[in-house]
Amino acid sequence: MSTIIKGGTIVTADLTYEADVRVAGGVITEIGPDLTGDEVLDASGCYVMPGGIDPHTHLEMPFMGTYAAETFESGTRAALSGGTTMVVDFALPSPGQGLMDAIKMWDNKSTMATCDYSFHMAITWWSEQVFNEMKEVVDRGITSFKHFMAYKGALMVNDDEMFASFTRCAELGALPLVHAENGDIVADLQARLLAEGNTGPEAHAYSRPPEVEGEATNRAIMIADMAGVPLYVVHTSCEQSHEAIRRAKQNGKRVWGEPLIQHLVLDESEYQNPDWDHAARRVMSPPFRSKLHQDGLWAGLQAGTLSVVATDHCAFTTEQKRMGLGDFTKIPNGTGGLEDRLPMLWTKGVATGRLTPNEFVAVTSTNIAKILNMYPKKGAVLVGDDADLVVFDPEKGKTITADTQQSIIDYNVFEGMEVKGLPRFVLTRGKVAVMDGEMKAEAGHGDFVPRKPHQPVNRALSTWKELTAPRRVERSGIPATGV
Ligand code: URP
Ligand code: ZN
Ligand code: ZN
Ligand code: ZN
Repeated sequence: MSTIIKGGTIVTADLTYEADVRVAGGVITEIGPDLTGDEVLDASGCYVMPGGIDPHTHLEMPFMGTYAAETFESGTRAALSGGTTMVVDFALPSPGQGLMDAIKMWDNKSTMATCDYSFHMAITWWSEQVFNEMKEVVDRGITSFKHFMAYKGALMVNDDEMFASFTRCAELGALPLVHAENGDIVADLQARLLAEGNTGPEAHAYSRPPEVEGEATNRAIMIADMAGVPLYVVHTSCEQSHEAIRRAKQNGKRVWGEPLIQHLVLDESEYQNPDWDHAARRVMSPPFRSKLHQDGLWAGLQAGTLSVVATDHCAFTTEQKRMGLGDFTKIPNGTGGLEDRLPMLWTKGVATGRLTPNEFVAVTSTNIAKILNMYPKKGAVLVGDDADLVVFDPEKGKTITADTQQSIIDYNVFEGMEVKGLPRFVLTRGKVAVMDGEMKAEAGHGDFVPRKPHQPVNRALSTWKELTAPRRVERSGIPATGV
């Protein structure tokens, strides 16, 4: 049984060409002209691209006294409906909990996933047990470790813990990730704002200015450099942070930045909305920024100083957001975007001429597949690779509304916005999950994707560090002491 994707234009991160694609047994088996097979999907007028990979989701995450309401089933269904065929979620041990124990919990949650997935591991506390278990985590195929520099008193780790963990990542050939905001300063600003009577959601943005993000990004970059390990900075939202990443890259450090589709499209004026629910639904960290910051992020994607567009999909219902009525620090932080990332980036990025279709594929799929060592199984259109594909119709449009979305959340932060560019078909390991707009995702179809450590992307910097490490000079003729 083979499926032919017929008459489309293949667009990858580096090539655009016309060809049919044969899919059988979950993988791509042939690419070429005039293919025939059992089932034909008409891709005329469409781009055939690697399915999107969202490396930053929090499905069913316990956070701020509640759980993210989006489940692995509904979240991955939402992903597929928008052309994303893989997510990387964060296994999050509570402080004091073992890492392998957290993996068990995430294994249980993810059994209903409709598309493939992988995990990052969060380092939320530090001990000999955590140090030892990091090796077991890597052996399980989880080779990236997230560190929260914010959320003081909950998930935040301090510099000494971060340096120890980064050093361990270097030894294990793994990649550290950071949520870069100075948690001490945020906590202080929050207390001051509340004391002054600033209790509404707009104060959330005032408590997390771009400077706290820029400072933490710089610090994390320097700590990673001292540990001799590359660094991935999640949800880069402002010029201060982007500037630190840009400078690091220019200085030969291996650092990647990840803007979110929400930050690229929505700005800080959302928090001034007189409707409390409207503003609270958009509370996330870092908060939305001004147009100036947004322009910088778009330029970074264009220039290659920023590498990946993600969502940080962490979706709470309106009822959950209302936990913060009267105290903005209690509004669960997080917004959704899984379903809209590709259509929105196409509409605001490709259709406006800011990104080429090939750059679009790079920042939604291929770059992260390479950074996380999943390429070309994921992120490519090549014979032998997983048939995770989106057949994307640039002429198909819609108005985004929560009424018709796959996500189970009762609102959408992009409500009322028009997108042009939508999937006609989406395939997850060869299975058609979206058939001309009809949702056919199958709960439990998704598989865990293990990743390997010590790949060139991990090793390059440590090799350079080793070569240039301080060395004692061997001398033959040492002068006698005394005169
Ligand atoms: O506000 C956010 N971003 N919530 C999710 C957790 C995180 O910080 O990534
Ligand atoms: Zn974060
Ligand atoms: Zn996150
Ligand atoms: Zn299946």
